[in-house]
Amino acid sequence: MKIPSLPTFPPGFLWGASASAFQTEGAARADGKGPSGWDAFAAQPGRIKDGGDGTRGTGFYERYREDVALLAGLGAGAFRFSVSWPRVVPDGTGAVNAAGLDFYDRLVDDLCAHGITPAPTLYHWDTPLALEERGGWLDRDTAYRFADYAGIVAERLGDRVPMWITINEPAEVTLLGYALGEHAPGKKMLFDALPAAHHQLLAHGLAVRALRAAGASDIGIAVSHTPVWPAGDSEEDRFGAELYDTVSNWLFADPLLTGAYPDENFAALMPGPVAEDLEIISTPLDWYGVNYYNPTLVGAPAPQALDSFAGFDIPSELPFGIREIEGYDRTDFGWPVVPDGLREMLIQLESRYGDRLPPLYITENGCSYDGIEDPRRIAFLDGHLRSLHTAMSEGVDVRGYFTWSLTDNFEWIEGNAQRFGLVHVDYETMRRTPKDSYHWYREVIRGSKS
Ligand code: BGC
Repeated sequence: MKIPSLPTFPPGFLWGASASAFQTEGAARADGKGPSGWDAFAAQPGRIKDGGDGTRGTGFYERYREDVALLAGLGAGAFRFSVSWPRVVPDGTGAVNAAGLDFYDRLVDDLCAHGITPAPTLYHWDTPLALEERGGWLDRDTAYRFADYAGIVAERLGDRVPMWITINEPAEVTLLGYALGEHAPGKKMLFDALPAAHHQLLAHGLAVRALRAAGASDIGIAVSHTPVWPAGDSEEDRFGAELYDTVSNWLFADPLLTGAYPDENFAALMPGPVAEDLEIISTPLDWYGVNYYNPTLVGAPAPQALDSFAGFDIPSELPFGIREIEGYDRTDFGWPVVPDGLREMLIQLESRYGDRLPPLYITENGCSYDGIEDPRRIAFLDGHLRSLHTAMSEGVDVRGYFTWSLTDNFEWIEGNAQRFGLVHVDYETMRRTPKDSYHWYREVIRGSKS
C-alpha cells in the first residue's frame, strides 16, 4: 500500500466519514419504527436491480458499536450518519417513538465516548410513509412536520451534538424521486415536480429555526453539486447545459444562500407565498455542505445519448441530454473519475456567492469499487484530496471532508451491487473487513495531525 504524501491541511481540519439510516440500519420495523416511503418503494418487485428490498442495510442498528470502533480505529474526527424520521416519529406527525430516540442517544453516547463528533443528518430520503401517502414533498404540510421532528431530535440529542445537517441532496429527491420516478416515491412528474424542491427548501429553513430554538448550533445542509460541461457550442447544446446547471446546482444553492431563485420563471412555478418562504429558506447557515462525485456533460436532447445516466433513464421530453464523458477512468458504477471537478465546483461556488458563502464542508465524496484490495479507491481519494487542497490554496474556505462511505451499504436502486465503503461488508454474515483504503485513510488522518 502506498503511504500518502498529501499536502498539509490546516490544523483543526475535520476528517470524517458519512453514512445514512436507510442504507445501513436495517431493523426496518424494530422497536416501533414506522415504515418509510423507501421501505414501501424498495418492496415493490423490480424496483431494486439485484432484487433486494433494503430491509437489512448493513445491520447497523444492532452493530453500530462495531462501526464506531472502526471509526475510532481510523482516527476519524466526525461521523456523519442520518436519523430516520419514521424511527423517531413513526407516522411523521404525532406520537414520538421513545425507543427510536433511545437508539440515537446510545449511538451519540458511543461516538462521544470515543472522541468522535456526531454529525447527524435529519433527512436522508426516508420520508415517513404516512406523509408520503399524503403527497410527501408535494404537500406543504410535510415541511412543517419536518421542523417539528427536527425540534424533537434536538431536544434529545442537542446537549451532545455539536454539528447538524438538515437535509441531504434535495435535488436528487426532486429529480430522481418526483421528476423521473426512479427513486421513492416513484413519481414521474418532470417539471411538475418543482414543488417538491420548494417544500424541501422550506422544510430546511424551518428546521434551521427549530434547531436553533432548541439550542442547537453549527447547522448546515448537504447539497449535491456537479460542474456542468456543455457538450458542444450550438445554441441548443448551450441551452441544455445551462438549464441542467440551473436545476442541478443553482435551484437549491441560490435560494439557500441568496434568498432568490436563479430565475423568475422558476420562482413563478413554485407554490405558496414564495417571497415569504424565501426569507425562511435563506435563514443564515453556519456552514454549507457539498456532495461531489463527478462532472456532467450536457447538451441538447439527443435520443441516442439519453438512454442512461448513472443507470437512470432520462426521458427525451426534457430539454437537455446527458452525454457520456470520455477520456477518464470510470468507477464500477461507470462514473467518470475527475478529481479536478471538485476544485472546479468549489471555485464556481466561491465566485458565484463570494462573501455570502459560509465555510464549506465536503459532506460526501467517494467511489464504488469492488474488492478489499482497492488501489483504485485510494487513487480516487488521493486525487480528490489534492484537488480539494488546491481549491483551498486558491482561497476557498473548507473546514472538513467526509468520505462516502464508512462501510459498503445499500446503494438505493443498485441494491448491494455498488460498494462505496472503506470497510467491506459481507451481506450474508454482516461481517466487516477494513479495505486497503481504510488503512490508507487512517494514515492520511494520522499524517495530518503530525
Ligand atoms: C447519496 C448517497 C449515495 C451516494 C452514492 C449520494 O447521492 O447521498 O446516499 O449512496 O450518492 O450514490
